Amino acid sequence: MKIHTLIAVSMLFSLSACNELLDLIKEDVNSIELDNQLSILIEQHNMNDTISGESNLPDISSPIAQLGKKLFFSQSLSGDLNVACASCHHPALAGADALSLSIGANAVDSDVLGGGRLAIDNDFDVGRNAPTVFNTGLWRDGLFWDSRVEFVQGGISTPDSNFETVDLNAGSTLAAAQAKFPVTSNSEMLGDEFAQFENNDGVRDHLAQRMGNYGLHINVFDTNQWLTEFQLGFDSSESSEVLITFNNIAFAMGEYERSMLFVDSPWRQYVNGDINALSDSQKRGAQLFLTDDNNNGANCVQCHQGPTFTDERFNLVAFPQFGIKTNDDQGDIGREAVSNNQNDRYRFRTASLLNVELTAPYGHAGTYQTLEEVVAHYDNPRESVEDFFVENKMCDLTQFKNIENCDSIFNNAQNISMAALQEIGQRRRPGRNGSGSTLDNIQLNQDEQNDIVEFLRALTDVCASDLDCLTPWIADNVLDNPDGQMLKAKF
Ligand code: HEC
Ligand code: HEC
Repeated sequence: MKIHTLIAVSMLFSLSACNELLDLIKEDVNSIELDNQLSILIEQHNMNDTISGESNLPDISSPIAQLGKKLFFSQSLSGDLNVACASCHHPALAGADALSLSIGANAVDSDVLGGGRLAIDNDFDVGRNAPTVFNTGLWRDGLFWDSRVEFVQGGISTPDSNFETVDLNAGSTLAAAQAKFPVTSNSEMLGDEFAQFENNDGVRDHLAQRMGNYGLHINVFDTNQWLTEFQLGFDSSESSEVLITFNNIAFAMGEYERSMLFVDSPWRQYVNGDINALSDSQKRGAQLFLTDDNNNGANCVQCHQGPTFTDERFNLVAFPQFGIKTNDDQGDIGREAVSNNQNDRYRFRTASLLNVELTAPYGHAGTYQTLEEVVAHYDNPRESVEDFFVENKMCDLTQFKNIENCDSIFNNAQNISMAALQEIGQRRRPGRNGSGSTLDNIQLNQDEQNDIVEFLRALTDVCASDLDCLTPWIADNVLDNPDGQMLKAKF
């Protein structure tokens, strides 16, 4: 090789090396710039606040949470001894059930959990998607998709009291107040045989008596160690009649749920200063999430606020629904069924996004199977809902895909979903509590949508999907089975 060719080649080499170096530097500068911008947004939206109430939650090793765990897994709280709370909220399924619509008392095989759980005659009578019970203790205002168990002036209001009226029997926590309701629902736990009493408290008393082996239902189980368990849980030597009351049952289950704190995510580590906890794509997603639409952001944060990612208000986003549940003609009208206020029609409590990666399918009816679909919905709600019906996506959902006449089970679904969509056009009508955020017309290209999905995946707690780590919250076949009625889940 001639000398000048050598020089030319080596110059070329060093030039390209130099370009690479420049690119690297540029990338670093971009990435530092991104971290800086994010830190401003985090500050601005109080995403680095301490999570309120986090430090007051019970530990899973406490006697009361341990009792609550046994109760949560016990089918003896269902009329026909075939459903436990864990049937729809199993820790191994991230505190939910992996179904679009929950299946309770009419499961074909009551031990089967997850996508394979089938409903007798395809009768989906629960009507809503089961939210996770992880982080139950972090909700400050209300529980359920419509917050029908909620703090009001002076205490907690429930379906047992009038709207905005204190239920004097609700107990002290939202979790305890909520735990009194699944057992009174025919479709979730009660079934049709056990007890048709005049009111909810009648049902609860009978369940407590059967468990405590006193009153009307005695010697139902071959073994019954509940008294010992309650005495340990409540550190008391009182009798069954005193200790095994439904209020105590609900309190213990509530404490178990409140012990399920799963907030240690890459996002939180990032917020606390570990800038390597997120990928660049996740950082770009976070930036879009936290930036308002005037600055080309997605403005998710206007509703998904603070470190728990929810304003706990009632907002209208018009995810597709199946058109069943609260109102025969209007479908699931959401908060309106609680408040009786027409402005609340189709409004639901803003979901928390903690661990959201683990709790598909999404929305109050579980109509979107993936986070990609949810984000695409926000990009263009109308197109997304229309596609859902044109492409018959309902019948792609795990729960419905093997059902022969799937498209005819919910024949009102399209009408009702379109009606909810219609409301978006007429929004800016504030609902109760001043809720009334509007859904911005955001334009997200495919890369941006992917970045937001990646960001949502950074909200997953390191323990929440690790079975070994979850062991303390999962009932043990032998140790946690005081009456032989423990749910033996098959997945
Ligand atoms: C058949 C399935 C099923 C069973 C059994 C069941 N749940 Fe649920 N759970 C649901 C569904 C569906 C919802 C949402 C209902 C709604 O919002 O209207 C829900 C909501 C909840 C919530 C509110 C979560 C939130 O984000 O607001 C809690 C807490 C809860 N259940 C705890 C329990 C407890 C405790 C038990 C047992 C006493 C129980 N569940 C039994 C399906 C079930
Ligand atoms: C106007 C308020 C509002 C805005 C803005 C908003 N959300 Fe939501 N989000 C909600 C409400 C309300 C729900 C529950 C909807 C339902 O089930 O019907 C929800 C549900 C979700 C869910 C499903 C959670 C679950 O557990 O099922 C995800 C994921 C989500 N939002 C992500 C986002 C992202 C990402 C953005 C920004 C692109 C965003 N949201 C913008 C109010 C909002």
